[in-house]
Amino acid sequence: MALGNNRRFVVNPGGALTGQCQVPGDKSISHRAILLGAIATGITRVEGFLQGDDAMATLQAMRSLGVVIRGPSDGVVEIEGVGPQGLRPAGAALDLGNSGTSMRLLSGLLAGQAFVSELVGDASLMRRPMRRVTEPLARMGAHIDTSAAGTAPLQIHPVSRLEGIDYAMPVASAQVKSALLLAGLYAEGQTRVHEPGVTRDHTERMLKAFGYRVVCDKATVQLTGGGELTGGLVRVPADISSAAFFLVGASIATGSALTLTGVGLNPTRTGVIDILRRMGADITVEAQSDGAGEPIGNLTVRAASLQGIHIPADLVPLAIDEFPAIFIAAACAQGETILQGAEELRVKESDRIAVMADGLSALGIEVEPRPDGIRIRGGQLTGGHVQAQGDHRIAMAFAMAGLVASGPVRIDGCAEVDTSFPEFVELAAAAGLTIRIEDAA
Ligand code: S3P
Repeated sequence: MALGNNRRFVVNPGGALTGQCQVPGDKSISHRAILLGAIATGITRVEGFLQGDDAMATLQAMRSLGVVIRGPSDGVVEIEGVGPQGLRPAGAALDLGNSGTSMRLLSGLLAGQAFVSELVGDASLMRRPMRRVTEPLARMGAHIDTSAAGTAPLQIHPVSRLEGIDYAMPVASAQVKSALLLAGLYAEGQTRVHEPGVTRDHTERMLKAFGYRVVCDKATVQLTGGGELTGGLVRVPADISSAAFFLVGASIATGSALTLTGVGLNPTRTGVIDILRRMGADITVEAQSDGAGEPIGNLTVRAASLQGIHIPADLVPLAIDEFPAIFIAAACAQGETILQGAEELRVKESDRIAVMADGLSALGIEVEPRPDGIRIRGGQLTGGHVQAQGDHRIAMAFAMAGLVASGPVRIDGCAEVDTSFPEFVELAAAAGLTIRIEDAA
């Protein structure tokens, strides 16, 4: 069925999540494999690549910049690296769709090229803040024009040279850190980035796996420009951010017992496990192996009775993408859950505090949205009609809420689920969720 832009999920209550499930490849790692493989020397083979719209936007952008990329086919991509100086002008604007990671990481990579580039995206991406990357890149000598509001379109102009900087990030952002490290590959001297809180370190790990010297010391990452990357094999683990919906669904639905296989367990991403466990979730981790610098394991989750908690501030950046799912767990917990220090949620694919608060209220839950977080009082979810506002993670979070609601949950604005998890409906249905898709256009 061809699906329009207003795809609706309808979830009927009841059931449990059981069996085994392998969610698709990690989005963050898939982006980075394409970018680094493109500017490496030699062939990079990526296995487990996420064939979602966001990672595909990065892949298509690199093709437009002259890189030969075969696939994806069954999650396998082969990239013929062109070396650090081998990219060519795209000749047209690069459309990055809904993908903030593509836009911010490409800003860094393209800042050091000898040609002009233009970056655009969909309505959500064109609203998202880009000064957080363009300002520090300008300090390195880059010339990037934004709109007056500091948003895309981004015009990236060639400059005679970039210079390494020592930069303390005002927000804990892996996208900003990665953009600066990618620009740093093209800069003279050292680029050093300090982070105010721990953020995902996939860029650092993958640079090292490609043979680049990167020095990481507590909250500081440092590299020297002018080196070379060597292509190789990248095995992408299953995305813990996609697994998170199943961790929550199986925790709240009585009788659930579900094993998620081959999940990436990078400690900068596992905040969702820690937060759910503090709420009383029953999650067992069986660590397996380290795939190209990224730890992997199986997670088994069983239904449990959850308690509201005050979410510790240091776990916020480690679970930043998982809050829509965590809010559903909070809505099903006994007592109050309080989140603070999470103002970043307001500038994700949607304003995740406002959109989640509206949806939870529509399902009968008492919420108090706050500038930097939310207070949620657990209770009985009713059926109802909620708006995902084109935000993939909000759509999937409310789908899991349908397991325990007292009536059907209808979710509008779900087409963007394809950005990170195109197989969501099939995998959720196979695990036990009663979900169907309607074209509400
Ligand atoms: C990402 C970093 C995070 C995250 C995003 C992916 C990445 O954003 O929310 O979904 O791949 O680097 P910030 O760096 O803006 O926190």
